[in-house]
Amino acid sequence: MYYSDEIVEEVRAKNDIVAVISGYVNLKKKGSNHWGCCPFHNEKTPSFAVSENKQMYHCFGCGESGNVYTFLMKYENFSFPEAIRALADRAGVQLPEIEYTEEQKKRANRRQRLLDANKDAATFFYYQLRKNPHGEVGLAYLRKRELTDETMKKFGLGFAGKNGGELVAYLRKKGYRDEEIRDAGLASFTERGGLSSQFWNRVMYPIQDINHRVIGFGGRVMGDGEPKYLNSPETDVFDKRRNLYGLNYARTARTNNMILCEGYMDVISMHQAGFGQAVASLGTAFTPEQAHLLHRYTEQVLLAYDSDGAGVKAALRAIGILQEEGITAKVINMRPHKDPDEFMKALGHEAFQERIDQAENSFFYEIRMLEGQFSMQDPEERTKFHREIARRLCSFSEEVERDNYLQAIAAKYSIGVENLRKLVVSYAAAGVARPAERPRSGIQSKTNVHDGAKRAQKLLITWIADYPQIYPKIKPYVSPEDFTEELYRQVAERVFRAMDNGQFSPAEIINTFEDEEKQKEAAEIFYEELPPVEKISEKEQALHDVIYAVKKNSLEHFKRMQAERNIEAVSKVIAGKKALLELSKVHISLE
Ligand code: UTP
Ligand code: MN
Repeated sequence: MYYSDEIVEEVRAKNDIVAVISGYVNLKKKGSNHWGCCPFHNEKTPSFAVSENKQMYHCFGCGESGNVYTFLMKYENFSFPEAIRALADRAGVQLPEIEYTEEQKKRANRRQRLLDANKDAATFFYYQLRKNPHGEVGLAYLRKRELTDETMKKFGLGFAGKNGGELVAYLRKKGYRDEEIRDAGLASFTERGGLSSQFWNRVMYPIQDINHRVIGFGGRVMGDGEPKYLNSPETDVFDKRRNLYGLNYARTARTNNMILCEGYMDVISMHQAGFGQAVASLGTAFTPEQAHLLHRYTEQVLLAYDSDGAGVKAALRAIGILQEEGITAKVINMRPHKDPDEFMKALGHEAFQERIDQAENSFFYEIRMLEGQFSMQDPEERTKFHREIARRLCSFSEEVERDNYLQAIAAKYSIGVENLRKLVVSYAAAGVARPAERPRSGIQSKTNVHDGAKRAQKLLITWIADYPQIYPKIKPYVSPEDFTEELYRQVAERVFRAMDNGQFSPAEIINTFEDEEKQKEAAEIFYEELPPVEKISEKEQALHDVIYAVKKNSLEHFKRMQAERNIEAVSKVIAGKKALLELSKVHISLE
């Protein structure tokens, strides 16, 4: 960060978050929070809370949270320096000339250089497409795919000419060093030692992060070359697991769903046809991180994957990931067309909207795909199919839900309800769940143990934030290294340090994280909901449980390290056991 921590904190402290957000959102005070309709997702009843005490906001609907800086960064699409300038202006604080430590300067500069290089490359490709005679092939290709000039402009489409050296020459002229060009993922050193771009003879799709910054490219070959799409490698600014193509536009589409497609072209033609909520993963399979990212904007994802075998497989995988994240998934039937792009061209907006309305519940879809694997004429195969259905039904932990599905499936596949129910009961009794690679909510799996530990760590930080007076009492038992989740440990380190120095402020701690995504994740931690109990003794019990769970998990963690012959872990295991024992005897009061 460019400004000193002191000035960042001063500007923050002089801008009361309730006052700032009131300028954008209609807020009403209720209890300890001010409430309004969330500006980051579409809602009619207020679930957006702004806390005067914590100087933070949190939406209980979409999960967005942060402080006054992240609010402006998100709402106004400001970068951090822009946000601090706006707030300094507002509060009448004179910002000093930018000061930075060498280390900060280097890192910030480096990232900025890589972003700049990608942006300049995008500009270069953009003009190649339009102004260079070589670009005509690309333009003709895009026109043949029925993209309008407006769409091409919106997505910043470009062209890489016949020769990978042109881009390099252009960037060098702009003052980039060869290493920078390479580190930006735009070119690599050849065996003969020269620097050359892999992108040539391709239509170029710039990939943007949610703040519209170009972080990489996908390039579509002209003709039948291999690979069909070439993507930038991962770089310091391009993390494929945590970005989605089209999300910079889709996040403000204000629909109650998002549409997940496979390809760049799918996203573009969907947007052109009026479905601005379409996104795609970036030349890799859909990841849990991407699901988490989507969850910030929506509760429902519609899958619009290719209708071929690979598409079905990918859809089944994505369904599992979305369910794990707690997002409702549905599948859009694209037949008789291959993908959304073809569908849109053949049948258009209205027909697609109909398909959206008829999108199939993901469980029905899974069963229907399963059906194809059995030959229904053969009684034995049929039985196997029914067993598999029963097994999967077991994974609904809630009985009403399970029974609803059971009845629907029984009717659909002409299975006797009672027979199917018996099968389910016997499976449930035997503790058989669905296949391990697709765990669902409610099933005791490794993931759940993991989630439990995560949640306890998160809760403990919330406890400290809400009741700072407990800090000295828990310090003898817990330290930041008990937080086994990387991000939580980082937050805990900052919280403990701030507490030791007697100047704890959650909103300030968030700012010590540089990247926006991390800031948001960190902010969420402070807003974990504490158990809704009133009686002090119950609260104290809840707190005790949380500390115990954190400590227990950390002990298991160090035991595993010890088993892997990590010497340092030995003393930590001993200390952990002792702390756990003492903890079981003490009472930690909230007074
Ligand atoms: P498809 O091959 O289905 O793309 O790959 P498409 O959009 O239908 O391609 P067109 O219409 O022929 O141009 C879907 C996605 O998979 C990734 C890309 O992200 C692509 O958009 N992909 C595909 C690659 O990364 N590399 C490849 O070689 C092929
Ligand atoms: Mn496709």
